Amino acid sequence: MRTTHRQIAIVGHRGAAGEAPENTLGSFALAVEQGADAVELDVHLSKDGSIVVCHDAKVNRTTTGRGAIAELLTRELKQLDAGMWHSDRYAGERLPLLEEVLDLLPPAVGVNVEIKIDSPELRDGLLRLLRERSMLQRVFVSSFHHGGLTRMKQEEPGLRIGLLVDKKPIMPEEAARKYGVELYSMHPHHKLVNRQWMEQANRLGIRVYPWTVNKVPRMAELIALGVSGIITDFPARLRALLNN
Ligand code: G3P
Ligand code: CA
Repeated sequence: MRTTHRQIAIVGHRGAAGEAPENTLGSFALAVEQGADAVELDVHLSKDGSIVVCHDAKVNRTTTGRGAIAELLTRELKQLDAGMWHSDRYAGERLPLLEEVLDLLPPAVGVNVEIKIDSPELRDGLLRLLRERSMLQRVFVSSFHHGGLTRMKQEEPGLRIGLLVDKKPIMPEEAARKYGVELYSMHPHHKLVNRQWMEQANRLGIRVYPWTVNKVPRMAELIALGVSGIITDFPARLRALLNN
């Protein structure tokens, strides 16, 4: 992915989720407009095997529908409005498929796909799509499901993987020892990041992308610590900070 000031990547969380309905094409377009170097998005698998971009396992919170994505067909999911809950301005947004997001984004913009469920079918479908589209270099795949993610890396050594870390903190050295595969990145909750974290990651050549950082003073602290990029709901705020 392209990066800007001092190689700090602006990663738009669910697009520009602070200002647009998360994980919609409108949100991704806004993130790009605001200068994001990459977008983060979440994926699930529909009943008929489509890779659907949505944070929750159910459509209830962010669409006009109800039910689990895993129990709905693509054509049923496509009937739902995914923007109205946010504002009238975004009425008519649909739940995007991953391939539609890849079609929308300019080639220079990176994509951080977060695998939400521990499913071999989803992992296989994602690998197939990235291979078909020759996108292994443009996409980095993250997940809290470290076992499944590291298995993907073993199957496809060209894949870039990033371990998501939150409640059960694992630091870079322990993660590298435990999983024994090349880690492109680690994505810790931003409160976990400190000098020790950064020293370990730097020694191992692991990029660090903390989430979800929306306050400018905290963005500045993380930049000073030397993170590789920041995942934020407000790409424009980080862009303005980096431009100053
Ligand atoms: O990828 C970082 C962040 O998105 C993980 O948490 O719940 O926002 O998907 P969540
Ligand atoms: Ca996510």
